[in-house]
This record gives sequence, structure tokens and C-alpha cells, in this order.
Amino acid sequence: MPGESMQQCARMPESLETLISQADLQDRIESLAEEIRRDYGDQQMLLVGVLKGSYLFLADLSRRLGGNVAIDFVQTSSYGAEKSSSGVVQIRKDLDINIEGQNVLLVEDIVDTGLTLTHLRELLSVRKPNSLKVVSLLSKPEARVHQTQIEYVGFEIPNAFVVGYGLDYSERYRNLPYIAILRPE
Ligand code: PRP
Repeated sequence: MPGESMQQCARMPESLETLISQADLQDRIESLAEEIRRDYGDQQMLLVGVLKGSYLFLADLSRRLGGNVAIDFVQTSSYGAEKSSSGVVQIRKDLDINIEGQNVLLVEDIVDTGLTLTHLRELLSVRKPNSLKVVSLLSKPEARVHQTQIEYVGFEIPNAFVVGYGLDYSERYRNLPYIAILRPE
């Protein structure tokens, strides 16, 4: 919604339709954490959250993983205030930690076109981590333009505009504890 103020946005009639309930989200995160912990065993891992959308998923996943976990963040942006990708990934914040030799697990809220993840995989793999895997809470296979590997997927969802549990529309709705489809009315 470029050019519109938050107040104008807030007056636009929109409706939310629950796609994934809070309980279903939490159950799936629990089973993802068990699967990841089984795969990594006692090895140290570095969780890299992709801001801003992954902040709630990273918080819940990391608490369930327990064990030997370090945390860092990158921030990218390709959507700005719009509903569709600009096609250009900007790195707004790079990692603080040197990842050479580390077992890096990138934590994404959603893989849509695959542009962001493709870019991040390239950026991080040249820094010589011991391993580089990806966990994404959501994946939209129908929207994929850039094919990219995702080792752990929470839910495959239809090609609809979704908000909640970290995902926004013009910075709103990130704090919903569930995932919803946002429709203009
Ligand atoms: C969203 C999301 C992913 C990316 C996925 O981030 O968090 O990082 O888009 O889309 P893609 O597969 O088409 O690249 P966004 O740029 O909207 O920033 P945000 O997380 O701060 O909302």
C-alpha cells in the first residue's frame, strides 16, 4: 500500500479468515523441533532468524529445541509495503557472528517466490559454514519462481496472502497468534 499512511490503511475494510489455528501451529512447531533435534543430535547449531517475519517462530522453535543453540539474525526485505515481491532482495542487517565451520539453520516464516531464500543461501554458503539448512514455517509451492531447497517445512499453504504469527501487511497483524488469509472486502 505505497504512499498510504498507516491510519488510511487501518480504515480499509479487510477480513481475516483463519488458515492455521494457534493450537495447530504450536503442535507442528513441537514436532519440527523434535525432528530437527533428532537430526542434529548433540551438535551445536546456529539458528539464523530472517527478520522480521520469523521472530515469533524463532522464539517458539528455539525454546522447544533446547540444547546447544546459538542465535543470530539477518534482515532482508523484498516486499516493502506491497503485497507482491519487488524482485530485489535488500540486506538490511547482516549477521553479527562469523559462521565459518558452524551448523547454520536458517529460520524463515514463509518461502513464497523463493527469491529471498535463494539469495540468502548464496550469501551464507560462501562463508563456509559446516552445514546450511533451512526451516520454514510456511511454504507456498504454487508461488515458487526460484527453486530452492527447504529441509524442514511446517505447512504447505495455498497461494493466498497470509498474515499473522510474524507475517504482516504494512507492518500490521504480526502479533496474531495464528495464521490468517487477508482479504479485501
Ligand atoms: C517475507 C518473508 C520471507 C520472504 C519470502 O519477508 O519473511 O523472508 O518475504 O518471500 P519470497 O520467497 O518471495 O522471497 P519480507 O521481505 O516481507 O520482510 P518481513 O519479514 O520484514 O515482513
